[in-house]
Amino acid sequence: MSDKTLIILKPDCIQRRLIGRILQRFEDKGMTIAGMKLMQIPKGLAEEHYAPHKDKPFYPGLIEYITSGPVVILAVAGPGCIAICRMLMGKTFGFEAEPGTIRGDFGASKTFNLVHGSDSPESAKTEIALYFKPGELLEYATAADNWTVKPNEA
Ligand code: RTP
Ligand code: MG
Repeated sequence: MSDKTLIILKPDCIQRRLIGRILQRFEDKGMTIAGMKLMQIPKGLAEEHYAPHKDKPFYPGLIEYITSGPVVILAVAGPGCIAICRMLMGKTFGFEAEPGTIRGDFGASKTFNLVHGSDSPESAKTEIALYFKPGELLEYATAADNWTVKPNEA
């Protein structure tokens, strides 16, 4: 099974009608969409997802924000996708994120930072399991694969 990561297009992304433009960044980089759903995250699920942050001062605001409206949940696949997606996203706060990254190009806030991405193989596995049943993910090759990542390159 190829590498996978959980990406969430957060409520500000949907409210600002940026779904298409931000999803395009991941596709342009050669990532494959293995699962995708539109949902409003229930409070209990948000609390499970962000449990590692539950003692942080920003936690209540984070839960309020992530549950405040519809989000797009994506399971993204491809070799090295966890690190690649984090690079595409940029630093956590928009005002610190480099231009050319999603957060660097689209926002300047601490909280409204448009996207979530898993930060390790362990969190990717846990987070994907929170949002997708195994049968909901598709494993498939695309015609572009052999031209975006050279198989077995040194
Ligand atoms: P994410 O989990 O959403 O992909 O973001 P991240 O890894 O870049 O950042 P993380 O440290 O995991 O923080 C989770 C989310 O909490 C909000 N946050 N606010 N006010 C603050 O100091 C603060 N710090 C973090 C952000 O929305 C961040 O994405
Ligand atoms: Mg995080």
